[in-house]
Amino acid sequence: MSQTSSGHLDHVLNEERLFPPSAEFTQQAVIGSREQYEDLYRRAAETPDEFWGAEAREHLHWFQPFEQVCNWNTPHVEWFVGGKTNASYNCLDLQIASGHGDRVALIWEGEPGEQRKLTYNDLHREVCRAAGALRQLGITQGDVVSIYMPMTPELVVSMLACARIGAIHSVIFAGFSSEAIADRNNDAQAKLVITANGLYRRGKILPLKETVDEALEKSPSVKNCLVLRRIADQPTPMTEGRDLWWDELVETQSDDMPAEPLDSETPLFILYTSGSTGKPKGILHTTAGYNLWAKRTFQWVFDHRPNDVYWCTADCGWITGHSYVVYGPLAAGATCLIYEGAPNQPGPDRFWDIVERHGVTILYTAPTAVRAFISWGDEHVDKHDLSTLRLLGSVGEGINPKAWMWYREKIGGGRCPIVDTWWQTETGGIMMSPLPGITATKPGSCTQPLPGVIPKVVDESGHEMGVDEGGMLCIAQPWPGMLRGIWGDEQRYVEQYWSTVPGMYLTGDNARCDKDGYYWIMGRIDDVINVAGHRLSTIEVESALVSHPSVCEAAVVGRPHEIKGQGIAAFVTIRDAEPDEKLRDALRQHVRKEIGALAQPDDVRFTASLPKTRSGKIMRRLLRDIAAGEETSGDTSTLEDYSVIAKLRNDEE
Ligand code: WT7
Repeated sequence: MSQTSSGHLDHVLNEERLFPPSAEFTQQAVIGSREQYEDLYRRAAETPDEFWGAEAREHLHWFQPFEQVCNWNTPHVEWFVGGKTNASYNCLDLQIASGHGDRVALIWEGEPGEQRKLTYNDLHREVCRAAGALRQLGITQGDVVSIYMPMTPELVVSMLACARIGAIHSVIFAGFSSEAIADRNNDAQAKLVITANGLYRRGKILPLKETVDEALEKSPSVKNCLVLRRIADQPTPMTEGRDLWWDELVETQSDDMPAEPLDSETPLFILYTSGSTGKPKGILHTTAGYNLWAKRTFQWVFDHRPNDVYWCTADCGWITGHSYVVYGPLAAGATCLIYEGAPNQPGPDRFWDIVERHGVTILYTAPTAVRAFISWGDEHVDKHDLSTLRLLGSVGEGINPKAWMWYREKIGGGRCPIVDTWWQTETGGIMMSPLPGITATKPGSCTQPLPGVIPKVVDESGHEMGVDEGGMLCIAQPWPGMLRGIWGDEQRYVEQYWSTVPGMYLTGDNARCDKDGYYWIMGRIDDVINVAGHRLSTIEVESALVSHPSVCEAAVVGRPHEIKGQGIAAFVTIRDAEPDEKLRDALRQHVRKEIGALAQPDDVRFTASLPKTRSGKIMRRLLRDIAAGEETSGDTSTLEDYSVIAKLRNDEE
């Protein structure tokens, strides 16, 4: 963070194109006029208690009404104090009570091609049974349950079953190592692990249970392990007295089990995420505020209508899967598609095949996926009819204008608005995003804050920056979906989020706000590089590189430079080109032309792929070390492919 202590951020991404929604889209939109948005925004900002009180009464079920809307005692907040609700009730029973019991809640597709559809009635029954099984295993309110499962309906069922009885789920992405599982089990003192006897990934079976067994050797708090038989006839080690089969325990339970009325601030889940140190932090979210935030942001941003088939491609192992596969869309009565496997199995057109066969209307995915599709070639998209799509979403990192345009033209047929949603594990739900019926979008900008979000771009003393001046992005008022803490680490919570700019939530991102009030995320605070006294966002250099026809993906990091303080090192993957000196020069010239001499990379390295965490984020820390010629350091438990690093190192020698 030291790099933010002086000077200003130079922004060099000049994107002037503007894409307003069609009149047709606007006419039918959930938020269909600027005035409507401005009214919501003003009321949420000026009279938040009145605004959120009314929202909560209308959009959640209350077993007992709340007495106070918001109790803000910096940096701790409580929402809807004294009220009792239940997130599983809001997602299931409330839908059934509103007459939507026969509506499809989940459409599931396994990687090998199996399909299942569960209505809200079906899902309710499955969740009740699973909740009964949890009770039978002695799980009660406040107990932590680790969930390490493939993207199956049972993963969603497990989460909602915990919510139903007030147990706290900690979903661990099913690509993490046994080491990472054990760390999380121990940090949260989990009592139960729910897993499966395998999952399909790129045509292969990954034996999850063996990995969990290794973790359980080092997880003394865990008493039981509940195992879904995802793969019939798969030999599975089962430990007598500890391990139980899902089909034996869950399917024999009662079909009805009333949801427990829970205080608004009852912990709903912990989700571990990487921080600036090596140790992952358990981000804590609670029941009422989070559920309301997930539901309302889903309705606003995805413009949800009853006939939509909505597909968020995120795994429930990440926050996107929590908020926009489970708690947002189900509380809104949506039909959600989930898919177990890889986007290129059996072929690179799997996504488009799914969209066509199920008539997907809303697609929410990540820029890293979009860039992969681009590199695989348009012919895989062209084979399919994507005309049911009406809205596209993006999340996880900034989307380069070039990828944005391809997404819009190739996938959206030029007619679908793109919502580039900025948010974080900590924010619980989307904070800034276009509203598809009213926002004229600019490629690469997450545009404007949602009602209840008061963003400020500030310097280290808390002074607001001017138009187009980069600075630290903070949030000035609490919102219902805000994290409530880091599990077991109050000090880190205060230091990380509340100590840099007093009284404001520090997002850790840099941003600027342009003359139209649109926000542009400029990367993490620690990704910012300082070249000869100029602060540069690595994302901007990456965008420039990616706009070159031979470049697929680019990652840019700073590295020590004798004269300039920091130099720029770029790692690129290429297509249809030779990785030679000529191309290296061409790319440096290209960046110089796109941005200016100050952004020209000192070093361009070609690589077959970039080291990424399993959620698809480029591991910049590793690249920085490689660029600087240092040993790798810190937590690499989230690393997708170690061989990538080995390769980059060898190239150096
Ligand atoms: C960080 C949060 C949000 C759910 C998935 C990731 C970056 C996320 C965007 C966006 C630019 C983005 C930020 C943020 N980020 N969305 N639309 N534009 N940057 O959640 O793992 O908690 O990561 O991802 O840097 O702080 P996460």
